[in-house]
Amino acid sequence: MMMGVEEEHEKMNGLFPAVRMRRLRKLKLIKEARLYTDELILPLFIDEHLKGAGGSGRRPIESMPGQYRLSIEEAVKEVLEARSLGIKSILLFGIPLRKDERGSESFNEDGIIQRAVRRIKEEVGDVIVITDLCLCEYTTHGHCGLIEDGRVVNDPTLEILGRIAVSQAEAGADIVAPSGMMDGMVGAIRTALDENGLSDTAIMSYAAKYCSALYGPFRDAADSGYKFGDRSSYQMDSANAREALREVELDIREGADIVMVKPAIFYLDVISRVRARFDIPLAAYNVSGEYSMLVAASDKGYLKKEEVMMEGLTAIKRAGADLIITYFAKEAARLL
Ligand code: PBG
Ligand code: ZN
Repeated sequence: MMMGVEEEHEKMNGLFPAVRMRRLRKLKLIKEARLYTDELILPLFIDEHLKGAGGSGRRPIESMPGQYRLSIEEAVKEVLEARSLGIKSILLFGIPLRKDERGSESFNEDGIIQRAVRRIKEEVGDVIVITDLCLCEYTTHGHCGLIEDGRVVNDPTLEILGRIAVSQAEAGADIVAPSGMMDGMVGAIRTALDENGLSDTAIMSYAAKYCSALYGPFRDAADSGYKFGDRSSYQMDSANAREALREVELDIREGADIVMVKPAIFYLDVISRVRARFDIPLAAYNVSGEYSMLVAASDKGYLKKEEVMMEGLTAIKRAGADLIITYFAKEAARLL
């Protein structure tokens, strides 16, 4: 007996040979995730030891080939270039001349970051300036909080974080980005900003920041390595993803405007779970180690830099990030 056409289709429904995945694939029509230049955030290191423009205002970072510590004047040039490529926002890290136990340079109104923000805002009208908000670059011990009896103490640190936030916002930062993983930091910063008439300054919280070996090159770059212990009493254990959801939820309740997962590519599952659970804008930090691994392997000829870079950034988008902080921002922008 012959099968009718309908019967035949029913039998084949969802099956080869009626279904051929390659039919569309070769057209390259469907792209579920797409990168846009204006969602890339470029991190910059502003070094108070460097003065002026040109050679003297720029020092290569050995552990991050292609990245530089910049004087304020060089940073202005870098921001203008980023803007011309379509990058909308930058994330600033400061390397101060003077460090002390309490990191007091971090909230000096004439500190390196405060001056850099003012100058960049003067020279470049339409850039979104985000300032990293932490103590580790400013303290002699290199930890992200105050030390008492050899330990990083949480609550006394919060008051200082509030002062840093106010000084950065007063200098003109659009968004402050607390990265120290202290409990209650977002709430303390929100309160300090609001009490000082800075209720329009946004907070991008490093909400789920893992204690990662991938920060090694950054600590070289920012001179923010710790002198004793490690950061595992405040940064998260890489084994934990559910804990990240709690961290994110708390930061949302405390008033975060954007939450961040960091690092990015080793933690795509975390990005994806945060995205599925919460509707808040989500950033992912493609960190220094993720950058340097790829640059080193491609310098050796083992990987094709541009292809792996775009694959990695697209993966972060696919996982669900709205914003990507990446040292590749300019290179990616040139390809997009
Ligand atoms: C400091 C800070 C770190 C990074 C961003 N802010 C390093 C750390 O926690 O030790 C890492 C960035 C990178 O590796 O690119 N709180
Ligand atoms: Zn820190």
